Amino acid sequence: MKIDRRNFISLSGKGVAALTLGGGLVTALSSCKDHIMNPEGMPVIVAEGPFTRLLPIPPVIGSQGALTAQYTNHEIVAGHATRVLGYQADSILGPTIDLPAGSTLDMVFQNKLSDRSNIHWHGLTTPANMDGHPEDVIQPGGSFNYNFVVDQRSAMYWYHPHPGHITARQAYMGLAGAFIVRDATESMLGLPSGEFEVPLIIQDKRLLADYSLDYSPQMHEVMTGYMGASVLVNGVHSPLANVESRSYRFRILNGSNARIYNLGLSNGAPITVIGSDGGLLEAPQSADTLLIGPGERADVIVDFSGYAVGTELHLVSRQFAGGVAQGVQEFKVMKIVVTQASTDSYTVPGSLSAIVPLAEASAVATRTFSISNDDVGHGGMMNGMHRINNKIYDKDRIDEVVQAGTTEVWVFDNSKGTEPHPMHVHSLQFQVLDRTGGRGFVTATEKGWKDTVLVMPREKVRVIMTFPRHKGNFILHCHNLEHEDDGMMLQYRVD
Ligand code: C2O
Ligand code: CU
Ligand code: CU
Repeated sequence: MKIDRRNFISLSGKGVAALTLGGGLVTALSSCKDHIMNPEGMPVIVAEGPFTRLLPIPPVIGSQGALTAQYTNHEIVAGHATRVLGYQADSILGPTIDLPAGSTLDMVFQNKLSDRSNIHWHGLTTPANMDGHPEDVIQPGGSFNYNFVVDQRSAMYWYHPHPGHITARQAYMGLAGAFIVRDATESMLGLPSGEFEVPLIIQDKRLLADYSLDYSPQMHEVMTGYMGASVLVNGVHSPLANVESRSYRFRILNGSNARIYNLGLSNGAPITVIGSDGGLLEAPQSADTLLIGPGERADVIVDFSGYAVGTELHLVSRQFAGGVAQGVQEFKVMKIVVTQASTDSYTVPGSLSAIVPLAEASAVATRTFSISNDDVGHGGMMNGMHRINNKIYDKDRIDEVVQAGTTEVWVFDNSKGTEPHPMHVHSLQFQVLDRTGGRGFVTATEKGWKDTVLVMPREKVRVIMTFPRHKGNFILHCHNLEHEDDGMMLQYRVD
């Protein structure tokens, strides 16, 4: 089969006139020629459920415990058991790990799968041998004790498997969980907590007629990434959240393999962004929609105060431009019903945390990573269609060598590219300096610390980072997990 990504067709005759993207900015960035799609990458249209099933909250564990990768059953759709992978029995998602900053994580991982596996702590800074490097795997029947000090800002990180070439399948089949770190600075803010602090892990799955979970990407789905028609929150399809008329803190994770969400509220109310991948922003940002790529998080406050009991609305994903086989449809993610009046009148503090900007002048190097992939993908190759600097992942090759404690600027250059790539660097948090081309600005959720940044077609994004003290081999990759397994991943070594 020949793939020619230069031969695009326009999805519709008119395109989308204007979209609202992040920061409350209204940007007319779509035109006929913008709204392109791969001829072989058809969008997977979302099919909404009845929104009658209550949103479940994953169980919470502390710094010590066990995570056992296993085959189990889970009701993605009520009344129908689906065979999935879980880190605990009867669940598609692992427990939420919730611990104070400075704790030592002491987690026994057991692999009861018939394939190799491991755990990567996405967003956390760990010693190299604790990071879940693709070659650092635990064989079937084996176990490993993940043990390291969690010395991080308060934020929602997450964990998932990372074995070379089979990460996408294992994550898709259910292996993932949230990882919350808390610190004193954050608790002083009095943010909505307890039942008013709600993790929302958003994922799409492809269910067959018998409710079995299908993971069988065809070649064009390696191009677009694998998408499903069923959108799940916390492991269930089309859930319902009953809320009080007050402020809630939603901690959102896009845990999908490839699907990007442009989240907003169906009544058009703004969302207050308080944090991103690596914790709280300096100051809250108001946004109408949040474009969140795979691997990214958004920490938001939604204020339902003043809503009458009985009010119904939805968390929706709106259309967006540049997504190739994505963004063509608006769909509902979760129904929200105000069922109880509350007198709580929380207001978000104007100052949330201190973020010292990393100075570009302090950078000892600038490295550019071309992710445009405009020179590959022709001639019927069955893998390696997605590359970084025209290279595919090679476990025996170190691509970049950096010095612990130094600061560098990394440039993810998709300026000639036609596909979105959420770019992720292991074991550190970076700051987004700027975005040129495409959307052309830094969004509300990108104004704090990040470990994953969405680089849409024609965009070039510059990030700045200081390498932590841990030496050894780490990776950077596209968090579209089909792209990642296809080879869109490099190794960097910290000396
Ligand atoms: Cu969540 Cu290497 O990634
Ligand atoms: Cu990661
Ligand atoms: Cu990609």
